[in-house]
Amino acid sequence: MLTGCDQSADQVLQNAAPALSIKEATPGGDTSVSYKPFASFELPAANLPVEARPLFHAGKALAHQPWVKAPTITDTRDGLGPLYNARTCLMCHTKGGKGFIPETNEVPIMGTLVRLSKPGFDKMKGVIPHPVYGDQIQGQSTSLAHQLRHSQKPGSIAHDVAPEAYVYINWQTRTFTYPDQYAVILRKPELDFRNLGYGPFGEDTLFSLRVAPSIHGMGLLELIEQKDIDKLSDLEDGNNDGISGRSNLVWDVEQQKTVAGRFGLKANKASLKMQVAGAFANDVGISNSLFPQQPCSQQQITCNQVTSGNDKNGVEISDHLLDLVTDFNRNLAPVIRRDFNNKEVNQGREYFYQVGCQTCHQPDFKTQDSDEFPHLANQHIWPYSDLLLHDMGPELADGRPDFLATGSEWRTAPLWGVGLQEAVNGSKALLHDGRAETIEEAILWHGGEAELVKSRFIQLPKKERDALIRFVNSL
Ligand code: HEC
Ligand code: HEC
Repeated sequence: MLTGCDQSADQVLQNAAPALSIKEATPGGDTSVSYKPFASFELPAANLPVEARPLFHAGKALAHQPWVKAPTITDTRDGLGPLYNARTCLMCHTKGGKGFIPETNEVPIMGTLVRLSKPGFDKMKGVIPHPVYGDQIQGQSTSLAHQLRHSQKPGSIAHDVAPEAYVYINWQTRTFTYPDQYAVILRKPELDFRNLGYGPFGEDTLFSLRVAPSIHGMGLLELIEQKDIDKLSDLEDGNNDGISGRSNLVWDVEQQKTVAGRFGLKANKASLKMQVAGAFANDVGISNSLFPQQPCSQQQITCNQVTSGNDKNGVEISDHLLDLVTDFNRNLAPVIRRDFNNKEVNQGREYFYQVGCQTCHQPDFKTQDSDEFPHLANQHIWPYSDLLLHDMGPELADGRPDFLATGSEWRTAPLWGVGLQEAVNGSKALLHDGRAETIEEAILWHGGEAELVKSRFIQLPKKERDALIRFVNSL
């Protein structure tokens, strides 16, 4: 097998790892923070100027503290729902990390979303929302009956606004066996909807289960120049490696035009602000200037009748507070690497390049100039993602197109911090729907454009597979 010193000339042409750079130790450049005394994805960029720190903490408070039902006296924090998924951002992105998915079908999902739609395409929405349920299942409502979990008991009080559905997961398991006979159990989720609040979905409804991703490093990803991403896109697969990433093209509600998407698991959001504003509107039910509507379809009558928390501008969160939360998110720091000089880790790094993981998990970028966020500008960063869509094959497909992304395309998941996610908040969930609980399982689910790379991984002897996984865990 290849190690730093015994590569033959043509193998070097293939996928030799570049010389290890000390810069790789700090994935967020000067913004990187330590994992001591404990690992966290909710720390401010290490170089965030002192004068900007109070604003970061104000944004953090808004992302942390629960929103409440309107009306209240403290009208800056009301307007929750009436339909919603969680009362705060960080209930799903716990400590800035991944959401959770239940291990059994005894509890409904919480830090996880189900999107839904009907077949078809809409230039501004990317999907055709379900006529009754919209494009996201909201499993919670401000209804007293729901809040008291009363509705399933005999003699229960009636809902005013029924939650849309309680979603449970049934896990289907199977065993994967390597050529060298090592076996791994893989599990795949099946959705189990209970207590549908507004009637049946109809047969042609498309669903997509999505675990909340980690949200550190977003401001750095935002400052990557689009042309640096475009350079990695290989639409016609000109280099014949079976891999042809492409950008999603999505509607930007601020610029009122179609642009390349970057945020979200199918890169379906144009900007960080749109992502945060969309989360407020749909996940928490807090209307804002980008998404002023309540999370109710026309057919959800009582939902539309409930008192909103709108201010004099007709929204539940002002632009000022929305910007504070966006800036908080923008400034969440990547964490420095562990075991950077470890021999096995660096052998694993060789195998990572050798099998070709970096063809999608693009190791590094340089962020562009920025007068607005100079501390995030011109940083050499290591997110391990090309931010492009790739066809990942039928096993990972959700069958639900979103703008240009087909039902089997996903944005390459950034790998920075992936080895710390469990230490950050306990969540092991990997891949878009949380089906993988280890790096190894995540790799084994790769298919489609990643099939060849995966098969090279599978052919490696166990010791080398373990080293590769250890490298990914050090990111
Ligand atoms: C119910 C759980 C939930 C809540 C509440 C929630 N999110 Fe998310 N968040 C998600 C999921 C799931 C995704 C992936 C969305 C997708 O691709 O469809 C996501 C995506 C994101 C992303 C994009 C990350 C990336 O890698 O591109 C950011 C940033 C984000 N959320 C921030 C927020 C903020 C800020 C709030 C509060 C206003 C919030 N979220 C509330 C579940 C949640
Ligand atoms: C063809 C592009 C491609 C190649 C090659 C590829 N990946 Fe991925 N990887 C992706 C995409 C896209 C996702 C997100 C898939 C999803 O969420 O369902 C992903 C997800 C992952 C995840 C889960 C991360 C998370 O936070 O959920 C890990 C770990 C991972 N890849 C590691 C690897 C390793 C190691 C290799 C090499 C053996 C590799 N990948 C090769 C595209 C690729």
